[in-house]
Amino acid sequence: MAHGGTDERSWVEVDLARIRANAAALVRVAAPARLMAVVKADGYGHGAVPVARAALAGGASALAVATLTEGEALRQAGIDAPILVFAPARPDLARRYVAHRLLATVVDWDQAQALAQAARELGAELTVHVKVDTGMGRLGFLPEEALARWEALAALEGLTLEGLYTHLATADEAETAYVRLQWERFQGLIDHLDARGLRPPVVHGANSAALLRLPETRLDLVRAGLALYGILPPNVPPRTRLQPALTWKCRITAVRTLPAGWGISYGIEHVTWRPTRVATLAVGYADGYRRALSGRAQVLIQGHRCPVLGRVTMDQVMVDITDLEEDPGQEAILLGGSGPLAIEAWELARWMGTIPYEVFTGISPRVERRYLGELEG
Ligand SMILES: Cc1ncc(COP(=O)(O)O)c(C=O)c1O
Repeated sequence: MAHGGTDERSWVEVDLARIRANAAALVRVAAPARLMAVVKADGYGHGAVPVARAALAGGASALAVATLTEGEALRQAGIDAPILVFAPARPDLARRYVAHRLLATVVDWDQAQALAQAARELGAELTVHVKVDTGMGRLGFLPEEALARWEALAALEGLTLEGLYTHLATADEAETAYVRLQWERFQGLIDHLDARGLRPPVVHGANSAALLRLPETRLDLVRAGLALYGILPPNVPPRTRLQPALTWKCRITAVRTLPAGWGISYGIEHVTWRPTRVATLAVGYADGYRRALSGRAQVLIQGHRCPVLGRVTMDQVMVDITDLEEDPGQEAILLGGSGPLAIEAWELARWMGTIPYEVFTGISPRVERRYLGELEG
């Protein structure tokens, strides 16, 4: 892909062949359940459109996004697969769901009625998935409410009730009692609907961790995000081979030798104790290389780990390359890389005091996305 028009300070390289291979691996694990690739938040920062295409090429059957606008962007790019929008569908925006054939999320009875009315006024039929709160405490019908309302929901003219889903709060935690409680509640609801012949065609509850760890949660469809990008959630057996798809790089803009006793960066939290070769990197917290990494992170230069010196600034960071024997070249790797020296997403996340989800989605739009392994045709 052409890189013209940017100043090449800092960029990510996304290997689409890896996304496709990860999708294929998850399809195999999930079968006979189908794979819904979660590409919200611009494909967890990787780029929603190319990731969606790669996931579909790897065998995913459907896509999920957080917002209506994200769903529309996929349609505008010519993507034809089913797309579920997780946010509760706003009745006043029903026209846009219909126009783009997006699957709408229904979270309570008032919204369902208003949405049905909006669909009827448009002379259209909206396909919906009903969300049930089994213990995430965020959105959805409580299980008893869903059961009590199900027949009325199914009878609402203007809505086609295709799906039922829930979201698990602790699928990646060591302690499994809570996730099992959530699952019992969900399974109880499914059993009741089944007994009355009311089970909808697409029932789903698994995220990446549940898919890889709790086979009973796979049902008709699994919604995988993190694993699609090649990152294993915690507490999951490492049986499924996934490949991280994203490498974050930046340019080295200066290499200088500073004398012993020289202060580095705002607040002078680092003072050199020896003559020190310092590389200045063209990345900072405005790019998503967070200030929490100050004096704590390492970057890869010519395959060596080099420590960040002092505070991360808005646009630049200084690293110690004194122990590097080679010429540092022009690039540093902030995340990714090959072999045992790679800086893994979980490691960078730990230095930042967060999780890979936030690392990826925090890489700012000013960081160019480049694609490798682009799909044929
Ligand atoms: C409703 C819902 N389902 C599935 C996922 C995918 O989760 P993961 O990335 O852990 O697979 C998310 C992501 O947060 C979500 O909000």
